[in-house]
Amino acid sequence: MNLENILNNTLFTRDELIFLLSLEGDDMKKLLDRALEVKLREIGNEVYLRGLIEYSNVCVKSCLYCGVRSKNTNFNRYTLTDQEVIDCAKMAMDLNYGSLAIQSGERSDKNFTDKITYLLKEINTLSDGKLGITLSCGEQTPEVYREWFEAGAHRYLLRIESSNQELYYRIHPNDKTHNFQTRIDALNSLISIGYQAGTGVMIGLPFQTIENLADDLLFFKKLNVAMVGMGPFIPHSDTPLYEYKDLIAPDRQRLDLTLKMIACLRLLMPKINMVAATADQTLSPNGREEAVMAGANIIMPNLTPTKYREEYMIYPNKACVGDKPQECQGCLDNRMKSIDHKIGYNKWGDSKAFTNSK
Ligand code: 5AD
Ligand code: FES
Repeated sequence: MNLENILNNTLFTRDELIFLLSLEGDDMKKLLDRALEVKLREIGNEVYLRGLIEYSNVCVKSCLYCGVRSKNTNFNRYTLTDQEVIDCAKMAMDLNYGSLAIQSGERSDKNFTDKITYLLKEINTLSDGKLGITLSCGEQTPEVYREWFEAGAHRYLLRIESSNQELYYRIHPNDKTHNFQTRIDALNSLISIGYQAGTGVMIGLPFQTIENLADDLLFFKKLNVAMVGMGPFIPHSDTPLYEYKDLIAPDRQRLDLTLKMIACLRLLMPKINMVAATADQTLSPNGREEAVMAGANIIMPNLTPTKYREEYMIYPNKACVGDKPQECQGCLDNRMKSIDHKIGYNKWGDSKAFTNSK
């Protein structure tokens, strides 16, 4: 295959994606450079922020990779008070972040879903509708998704984790609460309700192949999502998947594979919003900047009160855990300037893929 020819394509075959995901050295650099060029042409050099509120680590699921899985009892469970959530939203406005992302362990009881509805309404009133809100609260019924949409959430992130059903069941318990088809149905329901829907996968999982990752990219394209958040897998010692940590590639290789996934997806879906994940920075100090230079355009600075952050250890060594929100803002501004990008303050930063599809 000829790299230069492939890089001029806008449509890619599965074999071409496998070829691109296998590049190394100078050839890999050509792929990343091409993705940056396409990003700058299609959506520019602005990076949008989603102030992240890690609302609760109480979770009914027990995903085999996740540190806050219900079966892990080595830490405290917390849920923010209403006032703490409101304070985070105020902080986001003070820092000129145009959007919030509310992420939580999964619960589907009515107390929880009602509470999220209430908080969405409060935040909307407080910000006079100026703060965009992304939710990431797992699988819910279409009725709950609709209720939250009507209460003011307009983006929803639900990672498929792997679009390969066999791999999905190797990284999730094989029971009623972890069902592949339920997750696909949930994604379709989010799209049909009118959310800007996002999904994503972990990269570098044990048992995962390059072919699986190429299929993940084609899955995003087929579903025509408006946003994607994907990042490297980081083994957590209190989870069952830790047993297979020797099967995974070294940190730098998993980060490179993540960068190649981002770059390929930028070529495949030029206008979507794509997150530079905090997990990228866990693997390398400038990991998020590298992701932005490979085609990502969203960053999620953490607004969670510092005292809870240690308890939201989905994976170990999360970046910025000890930082105050104000410190993150200055730091991020400088980091983006250093790579000729700018932050889109006070903007929702909607996916241009979504606006165009209406
Ligand atoms: N390493 C990297 N990412 C992880 N996630 C959960 N556990 C890990 C891990 N060990 C990601 C999942 C989930 C998101 C909240 O965090 O993709 O959707
Ligand atoms: Fe948090 Fe830099 S982004 S301190």
